[in-house]
Amino acid sequence: MSKLEHIALLTSGGDAPGMNAAIRAVVRTAHFHGIRTTGVLDGYDGLVKKNFLPLGARDVRNIVQRGGTILRSARSEAFMKPEGRAQAAANLLEAGIDALIVIGGGGSQSGAHTLASEQDVRIMGIASTIDNDLGGSDRTIGFDTACNTALEAIDRLRDTASSYGRIFFVEVMGRDTGFIAVHTGIAAGAEYVLVPERKENVDELTKALLDRSSDKSSSIVVVAEGDQEGGAFKLAEQVKKSCPQFDIRVSVLGHLQRGGNPTMADRLLASRLGAAAVEGLMENKHHCVVGIVKGEITYTPHAEAIVQRKVIEPDLFRLIQMLAV
Ligand code: F6P
Repeated sequence: MSKLEHIALLTSGGDAPGMNAAIRAVVRTAHFHGIRTTGVLDGYDGLVKKNFLPLGARDVRNIVQRGGTILRSARSEAFMKPEGRAQAAANLLEAGIDALIVIGGGGSQSGAHTLASEQDVRIMGIASTIDNDLGGSDRTIGFDTACNTALEAIDRLRDTASSYGRIFFVEVMGRDTGFIAVHTGIAAGAEYVLVPERKENVDELTKALLDRSSDKSSSIVVVAEGDQEGGAFKLAEQVKKSCPQFDIRVSVLGHLQRGGNPTMADRLLASRLGAAAVEGLMENKHHCVVGIVKGEITYTPHAEAIVQRKVIEPDLFRLIQMLAV
């Protein structure tokens, strides 16, 4: 069994609500087991620049409820180059660090995979992104909070939409996936949801909206930012062109969805994954992403997790259609 006396941890890529809860869980679990922890500030950039901060169990108090990440996040040009990654590994070695925990999404775990493949660094990834698009975990940290934030916003838009019988095109995040759009759309009672995974027919959408307009109902169309028609503004423009009588408004929720206090589900997920990351390393597991699949803690090799394409359950699309009748 390799020595494990000192663990470093960093957050990388898009911040996600629940990252702080994961940081807390890593630090507290490590200390529970007598392992020292060091936080790396500014993601991989801080790893290359040796921007290290010793973290004790009390240093992570009162953060479980906070959005963002106390370790901050950054883009790193230096880490993209092999020399930068060699420097990062040398910094870890020099600081007497035995393993690194990377809390982040697809891009961050790809970085972890490259570092672990090139250098002798033991790495454990924690699946964390609001997009829910990383393999190795049914849900990623931040997804539930982002959905709830979007849902609250759409509920408010519905209030004003129904007062006027307006059509709202609401754009949500998700990069090139539609998890946030589909889950939030169903919960908000959206009439239509457009996602990158499916080619939609704009004429069909227009017809559906036309059918509803006869009784002056409001309509909510949720559009994932990566959808194939080019986003909410473009779609709204196309629909307006063929139906100028429509009273249409567009709302892009944007980075609102990244902030805010994590929900109970995200805090619980982050706490479980943070603890499992440390205990996995103690069992000599590394070069993998810790997640929860079908209710069980799993460790998926980085090489697999970063290429897995998670699929939105086809049933959910049917549900949207059925419930919008
Ligand atoms: O990956 C999380 C995410 O918020 C995506 O949903 C979005 O496309 C992207 O990050 C935005 O990135 P940035 O913060 O660089 O604008």
